[in-house]
Amino acid sequence: MDAIIRLVDIRKSFGPAPVLRGVSLDIERGRTSVVLGPSGCGKTVLLKHVIGLLQPDAGEVLFDGQNLAGLTEKQLYTVRTRFGFLFQGGALFDSMTAVENVMFPLIEHASLGRVEIRDRAMECLTVVGLKDFAARMPADLSGGQRKRVALARAIALQPEVILYDEPTTGLDPIRSDVINELIIKLQQDLHVTSLVVTHDMTSAFKVGDRLIMLHEGRVLADAPKDEFARIQQPTVQRFIRGEADEEDLASLRNADLSESIETRTEEQ
Ligand SMILES: Nc1ncnc2c1ncn2[C@@H]1O[C@H](COP(=O)(O)OP(=O)(O)OP(=O)(O)O)[C@@H](O)[C@H]1O
Ligand SMILES: [Mg+2]
Repeated sequence: MDAIIRLVDIRKSFGPAPVLRGVSLDIERGRTSVVLGPSGCGKTVLLKHVIGLLQPDAGEVLFDGQNLAGLTEKQLYTVRTRFGFLFQGGALFDSMTAVENVMFPLIEHASLGRVEIRDRAMECLTVVGLKDFAARMPADLSGGQRKRVALARAIALQPEVILYDEPTTGLDPIRSDVINELIIKLQQDLHVTSLVVTHDMTSAFKVGDRLIMLHEGRVLADAPKDEFARIQQPTVQRFIRGEADEEDLASLRNADLSESIETRTEEQ
């Protein structure tokens, strides 16, 4: 496999709590890899390691063969310009219009004139189907439109790798599908490498070439899409089907909710 990103036995704790407990992953160049896992399992933490926003306690992150730990701040900055990052929640600048948001990284990093920057930003908005919304403020856009503006901003510098943190979370199925189609289109048209973290199974199976599941700080499953669904591992199967653990269900069934509500009312 031609791996553009390699994570080698990454460990990361915040205080006493280990989040990543030895994660090794190879992300294939030009393909879409999807990292799955429940909320709080460390998906965002993993993505932040990939662009050096977090450093591992142990283990190595290699980008195109270079160990990020050996880079100066300046070299790391250059590496980051090869990435587009769609942050969880979109994170647009509220005081700027859609097109100004997309122009922002170009003003910061590209040596282009103002007119060329605006043209390039409009091109990116066109790719995501929002060229008629260029002058809108983020507050006047829907959640799905805001994500698409954030995606236009993420592709402005023509990145080689796009990292997507929960690109479809909080969107209805139709809007989610628009984002899924965009992820596929960007990968096909621009030949980018995509790394998507999500707990949306529909999205994972639609966009992913390879699916990886994180569980309790480790990689529990890692397989090409068509093999992934056949992995006979109970935790993987439950996650695919969206079913809770039997033990968790049993303790829920046994809990007497009416009693605890009464007790709480009396206490107040
Ligand atoms: N900077 C930090 N300091 C302390 N704890 C952190 C920090 N960043 C993340 N954590 C903790 O690490 C764990 C994993 O967080 P992370 O944001 O990676 O989860 P996630 O898998 O992305 O969840 P979600 O699907 O809800 O976005 C959580 O328990 C979180 O509270
Ligand atoms: Mg997250």
